[in-house]
Amino acid sequence: MTLNEENVLDALRTVIDPDLGRDLVSLNMIEDIAINGKKVSFTVNLTTPACPMKEEIRDACIKAITHLVDKEAVVKPEMSSRVTGGRTSGQGDENLLKEVKNIVAVASGKGGVGKSTVSVNLAVALAQTGARVGLVDTDIYGPSIPTMFDIHDRPDITVNRKLVPLEKYGVKLLSMGFLISQDEAVVWRGPMVSSAVKQFLSETDWGELDYLILDLPPGTGDIQLTIVQSVPLTGAIIVSTPQVVALDDARKGVAMFGKVNVPVLGIIENMAYFSPPDLPDRKYHIFGKDGAKNLAEKMGVAFLGEIPIEEQLREGGDSGKPIVVENPKAASSIAITALAKRTAQQIAIRNATGEPTKKVEILYR
Ligand SMILES: Nc1ncnc2c1ncn2[C@@H]1O[C@H](COP(=O)(O)OP(=O)(O)OP(=O)(O)O)[C@@H](O)[C@H]1O
Ligand SMILES: [Mg+2]
Repeated sequence: MTLNEENVLDALRTVIDPDLGRDLVSLNMIEDIAINGKKVSFTVNLTTPACPMKEEIRDACIKAITHLVDKEAVVKPEMSSRVTGGRTSGQGDENLLKEVKNIVAVASGKGGVGKSTVSVNLAVALAQTGARVGLVDTDIYGPSIPTMFDIHDRPDITVNRKLVPLEKYGVKLLSMGFLISQDEAVVWRGPMVSSAVKQFLSETDWGELDYLILDLPPGTGDIQLTIVQSVPLTGAIIVSTPQVVALDDARKGVAMFGKVNVPVLGIIENMAYFSPPDLPDRKYHIFGKDGAKNLAEKMGVAFLGEIPIEEQLREGGDSGKPIVVENPKAASSIAITALAKRTAQQIAIRNATGEPTKKVEILYR
C-alpha cells in the first residue's frame, strides 16, 4: 500500500486506546501527519501526560503502519498530551475556575489516614509528568500544606485583587493556613468555612491548570459536604488505611459523594504494610491486609493503589520535602507515582465516557 496520509490514518484507526475503548483517530488524538519518503511522523495527543499506556500506544502505532501500510516505513510518533476536562459533577457554580480542567477532591472518613500526605505527593507526581497542577488545602482547622511544603509566606495580590498562589516543586499552592491564623480559625462554623473556601478558590489567579487537587478536612460531615458542593468537581479520591474502623468511614465517604452525585474516581490504601529497611522483601500488614482494595471492589470503584508505611515519607512531610522529590526510588514514591498515573487515567476515562451528573440541592451557601 502507498504511504500517504489517508492510509496512515486508516492504519491508526485500528489502534484502540485501551482505557477509552475507541480508536485514536475518532478520539481526535492524531495531528500533524508528515510523510517524507519512507519517514512518517505525527503527534499523538494522549489525554494526560501521566498516561501509563504511553509506550504501548506508541508501539501499537508503529506496528499498525508497518504491518498495514508499508513494512519499510520509519515511523516516529511524537507522544504529546492534551488533558481533557470534566467538571460535569457537583453543584458548584459552573463559572467558577473556568481555566481549571479538572478539580479533584481528596477525602477520607477517618482523620489521620494520610490525605494530606497523598494530596501533596500526588500533586507533585502529576507535575513531574509535565501536567499543570494546583493544590488547595481546605482544612482550615488543621492546615498541613504550609508544613508539608515548608512554605509560610503570604500570597501576593494582583492589581485585579486576586490572590497569587505560591509555587513549589512545580505545584501552585494555596492553604487557608497562608491566610488566617489558627486562633481565628477555631471559631469558624461550617457554612463560613465553605464560603471562605469557595471565595479563595475563585479569587485566586490560578492561570490554566490541568488538575487542581483539593485536600479536604477529615470526615463526612457538613463542612466536607458544603465544600464538595460549592465547587464543580470532576471527582473524588478516598484515602483509607486497611483498618476496619477506617474502612467503615471510607464507606461513608463513598456514600457522601454518591449523595451529591460526585463520582468517586477511586480508593487509595495508605499504610498498607511495613517492610523493615533491612528486610525489604518482608511485608508486615500492621493495619490489616487489602481492606481498602476489597472495599473498592465491593463498592464498584477503581482501586488506585497501595502505599507502604515508610519513615522517609513521614519525614518528608514534616520537613517540607515531598518524598517523590526527595527520594524517587523509595517504595512509597514508586507507589505514589504509579497511583498518580492511575488517577489521571481514571479522570481521562471519566471525561471520555462519563454521564453528566445531575444537580442536587445545596445544603448551605
Ligand atoms: N504511608 C505512610 N507512612 C508513614 N507515615 C505516614 C504515611 N502516611 C501518612 N503518614 C504520616 O501520618 C500522619 C498523618 O498523615 P496526614 O496528615 O497526611 O493525614 P490526614 O488524613 O491528612 O490527616 P487529617 O485527617 O488530620 O487531615 C503524618 O504524620 C504523616 O506523615
Ligand atoms: Mg490532612
